[in-house]
Amino acid sequence: MQHPVLIQGGMGVAVSNWKLAKTVSKSGHLGVISGTCIDSVIVRRLQEGDRDGDVRRAMSHFPRPEIAEEVISKYYIPDGIAPGRPYKMLPMFGPKDDLNRQLIATLAAFVEVYLAKEGHDGVVGINLLTKIQLPNLPTLYGAMLAGVDYVLMGAGIPREIPGAITAFVEHRAASLVIDEDGPRTDDPIISSFDPSIAFPADSFPAIAGHVKRPHFLPIISTHTLGQMLLKRSPGGISGFVVEGPVAGGHNAPPRDGKINEQGEPEYGPRDHADFAKIAALGLPFWIAGGQGTPADLPAARSLGAHGIQVGTLFAFSQESGVAPELRAKTLQSVLDGTVKVKTDGLASPTGFPFKVAELEGTLSQAGVYEARERVCDLGYLRVPARLESGKIIMRCSAEPVDEYTKKAGAVAETAGRKCLCNALFSVIGLGQRRRSGYEELPLMTSGDQLATMGPFLAEFGASYSAIDVVEYLTSECETPQVKETLSTDEAVGCSCS
Ligand SMILES: Cc1cc2nc3c(=O)[nH]c(=O)nc-3n(C[C@H](O)[C@H](O)[C@H](O)COP(=O)(O)O)c2cc1C
Repeated sequence: MQHPVLIQGGMGVAVSNWKLAKTVSKSGHLGVISGTCIDSVIVRRLQEGDRDGDVRRAMSHFPRPEIAEEVISKYYIPDGIAPGRPYKMLPMFGPKDDLNRQLIATLAAFVEVYLAKEGHDGVVGINLLTKIQLPNLPTLYGAMLAGVDYVLMGAGIPREIPGAITAFVEHRAASLVIDEDGPRTDDPIISSFDPSIAFPADSFPAIAGHVKRPHFLPIISTHTLGQMLLKRSPGGISGFVVEGPVAGGHNAPPRDGKINEQGEPEYGPRDHADFAKIAALGLPFWIAGGQGTPADLPAARSLGAHGIQVGTLFAFSQESGVAPELRAKTLQSVLDGTVKVKTDGLASPTGFPFKVAELEGTLSQAGVYEARERVCDLGYLRVPARLESGKIIMRCSAEPVDEYTKKAGAVAETAGRKCLCNALFSVIGLGQRRRSGYEELPLMTSGDQLATMGPFLAEFGASYSAIDVVEYLTSECETPQVKETLSTDEAVGCSCS
């Protein structure tokens, strides 16, 4: 099998949902669903009434039906939740593994991958964020149970994932050492997920030893990171996505650590990958960030890349999860020339820079975030920390300041931080409604490329399909690049180099 030349980048939270990934995958390229917070996405879709029955249909194929039934009985609202009523929440992940909670993440990833793969034989990937630590193993396993073809992982160094994939293929437990907020200790926190306990071989003979190994593509910004990962996991990596600082979502911090007066990181030459050195690693690679015109794919291939990964153009297609009004507002800002994308060095509690489109009615506007009551109730970006007593607590620098400082967090760490969890649910129209009447507002992330989307919109209009994006990006390749169906044995080559 040859790898696809075009990857539709994973975009959380559920911006790259199963509908987008399926459309791209059916066209012969790699459609990637986002695994970020996918369990909370699924339970909110159930509360919205699961109108077409997709979530429940996919759940009916989950090998442990009693888990699916329990989630449906707790969260499904047949007529949809009443307007303004708060969504019922899942319990947050904590430092101690809880198999029942983990299995909801497993179920949710299974559902999203199942739906993206349903009814065709194109290839589908899942995107996970290294920084969202505790749900990662059960989410990865759920995706593998549904036959995911690729796992893509950035926002951190996913050094333990190739070993975890091997363990899951062999129906063994996998473990991750969890990064703590504070110095390393001799007694690290370990998170594990054990398929042989969750799906015992004697009850699940069709699963034990029959789960397929997906390709693993770490998302890196420099060849040194690629080298380090390869040294650690020879054989465990199929290739790299090489992402530059203009890409949407989180960006790698600048190597010189410089931030300008507007709070934006200043990137220099050292922050741009050396593609000759990446090519010398000997694995296929895809260039991500600002790859948004028909000339980019041939140019990437002439640099030795196998292809490109694109986010921003897909993020505003009809199939993406972005709420229609927010999509229209964002594209209107491109058409009327008011569009502005900022790299916010502080917003993300991960400490990584985060790209933000500056749009009216969103949290990007001065004073709007400050009017929000700080709440941390999704908790995916919480990190364990140890109090002087030795007690392990979970904290997030975007939580209420007094709670954070009570947990020995430094007040300076809270400045400028934004609750990305709640903001990103609002982006997809599933924002929480508070009892106070406050409705969570969105923070739209986008690549710098948004500002240069004018020619694309002039050709395809402001209501375009992901297929338009695929056709546009591959239009300077000689071989036909859009297929309705694709067998995984069929090559999706490109003769555009
Ligand atoms: C709305 C949006 C959300 C994103 N979320 C993620 C994410 O959750 N994980 C990730 O690895 N990359 C994320 N990205 C980055 C994309 O996967 C992709 O690498 C990037 O957008 C490519 O650059 P471009 O935006 O210039 O096309 C996101 C990008 C966008 C636009």
